Amino acid sequence: MNTQKNATLTLDGKTVEFPVHSGTIGPDVVDIRSLYGKTGAFTFDPGFMSTGSCMSAITYIDGDKGELLYRGYPIEQLAEHCDFMEVCQLLLRGELPTADEKAEFVTVIKNHTMVHEQLTRFYQGFRRDAHPMAVMVGVVGALSAFYHDSMDITDQQHRDVSAYRLIAKMPTIAAMAYKYGVGQPFMYPRNDLDYAGNFLHMMFATPCETYKPNPVLSRALDRILILHADHEQNASTSTVRLAGSSGANPFACISAGIACLWGPAHGGANEACLKMLQEIGDVSRVGEYIKRAKDKNDTFKLMGFGHRVYKNFDPRAKLMRETCREVLNELGLNDDPLFKLALALEKIALEDEYFVEKKLYPNVDFYSGIVQHALGIPTQLFTGIFALARTVGWIAQWNEMISDPEQKIGRPRQLYVGATRRDVMPVDKR
Ligand code: SDX
Repeated sequence: MNTQKNATLTLDGKTVEFPVHSGTIGPDVVDIRSLYGKTGAFTFDPGFMSTGSCMSAITYIDGDKGELLYRGYPIEQLAEHCDFMEVCQLLLRGELPTADEKAEFVTVIKNHTMVHEQLTRFYQGFRRDAHPMAVMVGVVGALSAFYHDSMDITDQQHRDVSAYRLIAKMPTIAAMAYKYGVGQPFMYPRNDLDYAGNFLHMMFATPCETYKPNPVLSRALDRILILHADHEQNASTSTVRLAGSSGANPFACISAGIACLWGPAHGGANEACLKMLQEIGDVSRVGEYIKRAKDKNDTFKLMGFGHRVYKNFDPRAKLMRETCREVLNELGLNDDPLFKLALALEKIALEDEYFVEKKLYPNVDFYSGIVQHALGIPTQLFTGIFALARTVGWIAQWNEMISDPEQKIGRPRQLYVGATRRDVMPVDKR
């Protein structure tokens, strides 16, 4: 970061200066940390429309260009040339691994994929129809009751072990949530399978027969994980950072991130989008839903469309659309009605002046539900897979925050508009 210029603010006749910091790429930031001390006023930015919460070197997004970089590498190149394990190391360490470094990391992750046998009893406490995200919030938070040996957040080695445990166990925990819901026995992870293939095994294998993951589908899932791995200071990442800023253990912080991701405005949009497509049902009804999405008196929004940062195509949506085509082709579902409906909806929306004027484009969640549906993943688990993939991003951002010498507990202020001081009257006098 470098500071070549200042910004000035005049308030109540007093002019104060604030340093302006520049990063390597992207918008400058006005450092207003001294604002309250100098002026007695706070900034006001609900939803953080114009607020940078931290300095980060992990992910860069250019919303106007539709560009997404993980540690400087374009998402398109990572999706084509790397697998999820390599992307995990890139996000955690800042560099792509050598072949030896990758082999070592894969082995470490494989050695942490099982969960404590007593953790399996947590599932028995849930109703069979519990939403998998409710299960994952609970079970991931409960990991902190099992791993007291890796919760000293000031110890890098503890932070590393927690990261490996979380990355390794999330597929196991998510697959167990699915198996519990369908009443099938949990499948143990297999170390002879790669990360995505192992997840498909734990999801769809049974003790009754041998299961071999389809390599095309496994690679497609691996790419879906890459596309969801990190995304700058989105709502759930900010939640993990804020929880971590109090010194909470990593398992509790990731559980908080899962809870935030669940919302339909965020990671829950993929589940909501598929339900929306199934509700629309036919291209002939698209106009009716586009009309509703534009109606200010209707709370309906086109799920999978729009983004706080992207005012152009979300590059992940384009890659997800291509992954959709590959999976549907592999499965002989080229005429999948949901995919054809989504393509039609995308075309119609992008030609509508409301979406053009508000720069609403398909985001990562628009196609991800369709491809996961084709993979046989139940709709309720879509966001669980988003959480599974985003865990490495959350951990990388959490680590970066813990290591930041300027890091302080996050504690925003407010504009108070409530009652001024008044005295309590006894109940018989109110
Ligand atoms: C993710 O932040 C991230 O990086 C998130 C994410 C990640 O990887 O972590 O990318 C993942 O969460 C993707 C977004 C998934 N959510 C959805 O698809 C839900 C539908 N989208 C909207 O809810 C909305 O677009 C948001 C929440 C994504 C963004 O909301 P903003 O930035 O607060 O924008 P806004 O709601 O103020 O919208 C601006 C205008 C509004 O109209 P006006 O009040 O200006 O008249 O656009 C309209 C909105 O009503 N609008 C939509 C719309 N999205 C925005 N109108 C119809 N349909 C939509 N989908």
